Amino acid sequence: MSDVVTETVALGGPGGATLELARPRSSEALLDEDAFGDDEFLPYWAELWPSGRALARAVAARRLGGARVLELGCGLGLPSLAAARAGARVTATDWSPEALAFVARNAALNEVAIATSVVDWRAAEALEAQAPWDLVLAADVLYEARNVAPLLDLLPRLGPEVLLADPGRATAQPFFAAAPARWALRSWPDDVHPAVRVHRLRRPA
Ligand SMILES: C[S@@+](CC[C@H](N)C(=O)[O-])C[C@H]1O[C@@H](n2cnc3c(N)ncnc32)[C@H](O)[C@@H]1O
Repeated sequence: MSDVVTETVALGGPGGATLELARPRSSEALLDEDAFGDDEFLPYWAELWPSGRALARAVAARRLGGARVLELGCGLGLPSLAAARAGARVTATDWSPEALAFVARNAALNEVAIATSVVDWRAAEALEAQAPWDLVLAADVLYEARNVAPLLDLLPRLGPEVLLADPGRATAQPFFAAAPARWALRSWPDDVHPAVRVHRLRRPA
């Protein structure tokens, strides 16, 4: 793909850390009517959403040396890059191979190692087989009502802790109504985009 822009993204914190992120200039140019017909597939992966930025800032504030970290629906994978920068062993996943090609490109750009894997979270047995993951990340994955049930089902199988960023989407409400039955839940607003909240879900011991 030739029409690519590269942006420097600030991760916050006292050190002023940044990451370089390459992405398609226009996600609309990537619309593919055949792919939409198959599974209402839209190229949402090609945008860097405020939730992805917020989750990357939350991850950058953590010490993750040696931790096994998994990202679901990673899109361009900024939180995965932040986790790798913080010392984690990271696997970034999405159902879009094009997204993962950008994650690999961005990992190289930032000189970090990230494994990538095409995974649809409605059929994620391969990730369950590698559980427990120390930390699972997901940004803006509850943007369609059909995503709620599969993620409520899958996330507790993957590991003891999830960080999930969400911009307050109405479609996410049933997820947060159901989550306290399975998780201890703590949430806080992002400093830069306060409409985005980062939710920390911890499985009770
Ligand atoms: C709104 S975008 C968010 C992208 C990125 N996490 C961010 O915050 O910038 C939603 C992401 O979920 C991915 N996705 C949607 N449905 C999926 C599914 N069933 N399995 C895996 N990934 C999916 C999309 O390809 C897209 O990358």
